[in-house]
Amino acid sequence: MSINTPPITPQQYEVLHGGGAEAAEIAQQRLSRRRFLRRSMLGVWGLSATAAVGGALFMMYPNLAGQFGSDLTAGKKTDFPAAKPANFKIGQAGVFYVQPAKTYIAHLAAGTQFSLSGSNLTDQLAVESFVKDSDGSYWVALYQKCVHLGCTVPFRDDCVSFKCPCHGSHYNVNGEFLDGPAPRSLDRFAMSFSNGNVVISTGTLNNTVPHPDATTRIIPVPTVACGAS
Ligand code: FES
Repeated sequence: MSINTPPITPQQYEVLHGGGAEAAEIAQQRLSRRRFLRRSMLGVWGLSATAAVGGALFMMYPNLAGQFGSDLTAGKKTDFPAAKPANFKIGQAGVFYVQPAKTYIAHLAAGTQFSLSGSNLTDQLAVESFVKDSDGSYWVALYQKCVHLGCTVPFRDDCVSFKCPCHGSHYNVNGEFLDGPAPRSLDRFAMSFSNGNVVISTGTLNNTVPHPDATTRIIPVPTVACGAS
């Protein structure tokens, strides 16, 4: 039965169709009931729609606080001592794996020899999501995932660079592409400092760093060969 025809008694039906003051009274009642029912239905529909949209949003954007996809505190800055590229050693100097963030932190010491200088260097450091520290060192948070087909890329102390075991994509200590099938340099997350801690924003990914060339490469190509592990 439609909401426009709420149930009426046979008596009401007769009066309505006969006209007169009683008909007007009953018509008024029907109109009020109709409005009430319509508003009730709209209210229920509105609540249902709100609940459905809310549920969908929760599914799409769950509360990620403290999880991958949110801002994660990696540790104190002093937990990640800087080094010059040639001296990087995983977990000890310059390069550190942060499992909850699926990230390698690379921390380049002040005085690192760059391939670029001046505004060229400053601009390219920004393009590659580096953060400059007050002591003159530079930080970058590299996503562990190979940009070829997604394997986890280990850092190789033996060749002081990242080398993917799947198809051989090879990346410098700062994630810049060196060789292999990868279509760009490693992706990187935004990072910042808070109360002496390093914070990695795993919801903010820079996946647009192209293969470097002579005008954009920040760190010189390592001289150590890097064969299959
Ligand atoms: S997934 Fe890394 S080279 Fe293919």
